Amino acid sequence: MWWILLCLSVASIECTKNYMNICMVGKHQKSEPGREDELHNQCTPWKDNACCTANTSIGAHEDASFLYNFDWNHCGTMSSACRKHFIQDTCFYECSPNLGPWIQKVSSSWRSERILDVPLCQEDCDQWWEDCKDDLTCKDNWHTGWNWTSGSNRCPSGAKCKRFREYFPRSSDLCEKVWSNSYKYTTLKRGSGRCMQLWIEGAQNPNVQVTQYYANLRNRAVASPPATLVLLVLLLVLLSREV
Ligand SMILES: *[C@@H]1O[C@H](CO)[C@@H](O)[C@H](O)[C@H]1NC(C)=O
Ligand SMILES: *[C@@H]1O[C@H](CO)[C@@H](O)[C@H](O)[C@H]1NC(C)=O
Repeated sequence: MWWILLCLSVASIECTKNYMNICMVGKHQKSEPGREDELHNQCTPWKDNACCTANTSIGAHEDASFLYNFDWNHCGTMSSACRKHFIQDTCFYECSPNLGPWIQKVSSSWRSERILDVPLCQEDCDQWWEDCKDDLTCKDNWHTGWNWTSGSNRCPSGAKCKRFREYFPRSSDLCEKVWSNSYKYTTLKRGSGRCMQLWIEGAQNPNVQVTQYYANLRNRAVASPPATLVLLVLLLVLLSREV
């Protein structure tokens, strides 16, 4: 009997994954989240527990910064109303210790993990699009396809500068396409506990609770009846060998 118990507990330890309070293995994220008293401006909501350093939070506010040399002004100067959303998106990506359920392995020259399909609250995505729709860009996927010969991203030949709303007809197009599905558009509302907020007010980070919800869902899926059945069969096979 003790043997079965031991085996079951080993199995459950191996099946239950920790999604809480971790940093992705990206280009600038720390290995462990922790307090950062000097986080800059729009990144300050993460100061109690952050995956970014103060230095990274400064870079998050600059055009073509040392972070990725990424120039928001690739089709003329981006409006400050639009830019603040890209700054917030950068703070969220660099600083959030609550992305565990959406971290995926990736083979790329500059990172070994990425985020995929993080469910964004509707208001955060809609406002991003609203404030950027009349700004100019030349591509709908900002992860690939740029001309980097100058050191920062330039529009590739043939890619015309047009209004955001032409490249991204709906808000969902912007949030989902711009970073190749890092975000997923939802109609879930801020404060619902089911979607992630880029913008955080108040001392409590509402995304902790959201991450806990999706982490539980994932771990429950692992402990679902089919998975349990497979485990039981394995256990029986092992037991019969033992005898
Ligand atoms: C921030 O980090 C970059 C890249 O590692 C480095 O070049 C720069 O000197 C740092 N700045 C500060 C203020 O530490
Ligand atoms: C990239 O831009 C440079 C100018 O900065 C240009 O000479 C070159 O032809 C461009 N390459 C491509 C593939 O568009």
